[in-house]
Parts: sequence; structure tokens; C-alpha cells
Amino acid sequence: MHKILVIHGPNLDLLGKREPGIYGTTTLNAINKNLKGQAKKAKIGLTIMQSNHEGEIVDIIGDARKKYDVIIINPAAYTHTSVAIRDAIAACGVKTIEVHLSNIYAREEFRQTSLVAPVCCGSISGFSHNSYSLALLAALSLLGPKKK
Ligand code: DQA
Repeated sequence: MHKILVIHGPNLDLLGKREPGIYGTTTLNAINKNLKGQAKKAKIGLTIMQSNHEGEIVDIIGDARKKYDVIIINPAAYTHTSVAIRDAIAACGVKTIEVHLSNIYAREEFRQTSLVAPVCCGSISGFSHNSYSLALLAALSLLGPKKK
């Protein structure tokens, strides 16, 4: 069975209440529930983690090596600052997809740089909670034939 790891970065646990004009009113629980349903239909394994801590995210990515086929990550604010998370993605050798709810390229200048984008297969940004389901579709497209 193919396995996908979803990592939600800092403050995404507050989705639903957090700046709803920018991030929408869908909660992280609702996003995760939807992803689980999508993964079940596609018969793939899905693990979901959330952390507000840069080092913990680096550890999670490091542990993903050889355990997962694809990582989907919303590094949130660390997108724009974390060389450590970028290096962890580059080092782990797992195909990675970057996700954002908002269109980071249409926001403040400091959000328009993603340090992780160059080490990811691709990025999905700006489709609100649907960015995650689009990322899961993209992950499925990266997977080859099903493992038994
Ligand atoms: C975000 C965009 C980031 O700039 C911001 O810091 C976040 C969320 C998004 O999903 O749109 O926390 O990654």
C-alpha cells in the first residue's frame, strides 16, 4: 500500500477561527476528515501530523525517509523563513508537495518567497481548504502502480 504523510505547520491548528477572511472557516479537523475519505477511496495509507515547532517538523520529515512515498506539507510561516525545513525535505529523498490555503504570491512581499518550493515537486497555493484535496490528487499522480 502506498503511504502519504501530511504535515501541517504552525497555527494551522487554529483554522476555522484564525483570520477567516484569509484562511476560510473550515477547521483543520474537517480538512483532515476530508483527506482521510479521499485516501480511503484511493486505497492509500494516510498519516496526518501538525506541529507549531520548526525542529519537530524537521524531525518528522527526517523520520519520513523510507516510510512514506509522498509528503504533503503546509509549512505555514516557516515557508518563508526555514532553511532547516527546506534542507530536511531535500535530504529525506521523499517526493514532497507544498500546499497553501491562501495564494502566497498575491499577499505581502515577505510571503512571496518560498524557501521550500525549489526542493518540492510542485506547489498548490490559493484554493482555500481545497488546496489540500488538490495536493492529494497531485500526490496520487506522483505514485506509480499500487504496491501490494
Ligand atoms: C499559509 C501562508 C503562510 O504565509 C502563513 O504564514 C500561514 C498559512 C497558507 O496556508 O496560506 O500560516 O501557509
